[in-house]
Amino acid sequence: MRVAIIGTGYVGLTTGVCLSFIGHQVSCLDTDESKIKALKDGHIPIYEPYLTDLIEEARTNLTFTSSYAEAIPGAEVVFIAVGTPPTPSGAPNLEYLSQAARSVGQHLDSPFTVVVNKSTVPIGSGNWVGSLLRDSVEQRQDKTLLEFAVASNPEFLREGSALHDSLYPDRIVIGADEQRALEVLYSLYRPILDQTFSAPTYLPRPETVVAVPLLSTDLASAELIKYAANAFLALKISFINEMGLLSERVGANISEVGRGIGLDSRIGNRFLSAGIGWGGSCFGKDTAALIATAGEYGLHLPIVEAAKKVNSRQRDRVVEKLLNELKILKGRTVGLLGLAFKPNTDDLREAPAIEIAQKLIDRGVRVKAHDPIAEERFQREYGHMNVHLCKNACEVADGCDALVLVTEWAEYRDLEWEEVAKKMRHPFLLDGRHSLDREKLTRAGIRYMGIS
Ligand SMILES: NC(=O)c1ccc[n+]([C@@H]2O[C@H](COP(=O)([O-])OP(=O)(O)OC[C@H]3O[C@@H](n4cnc5c(N)ncnc54)[C@H](O)[C@@H]3O)[C@@H](O)[C@H]2O)c1
Repeated sequence: MRVAIIGTGYVGLTTGVCLSFIGHQVSCLDTDESKIKALKDGHIPIYEPYLTDLIEEARTNLTFTSSYAEAIPGAEVVFIAVGTPPTPSGAPNLEYLSQAARSVGQHLDSPFTVVVNKSTVPIGSGNWVGSLLRDSVEQRQDKTLLEFAVASNPEFLREGSALHDSLYPDRIVIGADEQRALEVLYSLYRPILDQTFSAPTYLPRPETVVAVPLLSTDLASAELIKYAANAFLALKISFINEMGLLSERVGANISEVGRGIGLDSRIGNRFLSAGIGWGGSCFGKDTAALIATAGEYGLHLPIVEAAKKVNSRQRDRVVEKLLNELKILKGRTVGLLGLAFKPNTDDLREAPAIEIAQKLIDRGVRVKAHDPIAEERFQREYGHMNVHLCKNACEVADGCDALVLVTEWAEYRDLEWEEVAKKMRHPFLLDGRHSLDREKLTRAGIRYMGIS
């Protein structure tokens, strides 16, 4: 099938590459011309494991453009995957979505096109995009034979394993009020639903994946499923962090508590690691949007609101713990291990490291940091922050009064801790992710503390 993807960020690029890999003709469009130029020249603007390899394999089915007139005509399916960043009220900014929908409407020319919202958008956006498309088509001279339908296909990929999640998703959700749209999207996704494509060697099909469940539903339900899923995951993390606080007071071990409750299959063991809380472009924004949407209907969502409060308290606890340990923060040097909001991505949106660094700088701390992948992006986006970037963890440790493990990159697990300890002025490490080996660090002479 011929497919156009509007927005070539983390979601749009992943979707475009995966759909072209399974055999569709895909045109990826972005209004950021520098991004498109980089992609045409073979440079990938984001870090995502195996993305370069998969683009290489899909190359013949994949084109990049910044022209709607090139991407839209002839497309049977148009995905909108532009950003929907938060506004101060919590409601998402729908300006990019609106611009994209209008531009799509100006260039539709297939007898029947399905326009799919893949961006995370508030309930009701499907109808709104439909009206923007209609307005746009109405203004054209050549509107006569055009038919289109709007669908919602929320995205659940996790950055860092985005390709795996797109090729082997837990489920595909499609919301549409027109049967024809569902049928088109069913055909589009069939190789993934039935798992009939040959798996890339570097992304082997998990043995447990034989077919992928499809949930087809109405537009509003699909839109709410995305927000409800993110809110639930966010509150699972906040729940374990709340238990962590209590654990600390009563002398319990939060890792054991998490394991103990996670073995209950009704609860499940994922998203139950206590630590500095969630970050990233989705949980904060989507919980805020859900609360804002509920507000429009005169409703409060106290559980979601509490999950947000607990999350923001976790960042303050980093500063509190450093203060307890060092007594005076002004004039100290603190090193952050990891900047990206999670391992295997360079995404810094709402990364805990940024908030923690700022809180420490505000208290007169000199902040050093290292990240295996995200330093270049940090320099570009947060170069003004006065964080001293280092080549490796040992360089960060040099002269530090404390280290904070912020992002649990695998390489930090096996550092030469004796070397690290020797470099530090005060060998103390706060493990914000409960990912390091307490015994190993203690043997190396580092005082270890987890955040719970
Ligand atoms: N990143 C994730 O892990 C993730 C997961 C699930 C859902 N989502 C949702 O998917 C959407 C996209 O997220 P992202 O992380 O890929 O965002 P992103 O910021 O990485 O990418 C968005 C892209 O859209 C482009 N764009 C903006 N306006 C445009 C227009 N009018 N026409 C063409 N291109 C335009 C931007 O230049 C940018 O490259 C958001 O709604 C997000 O909430 C993201």
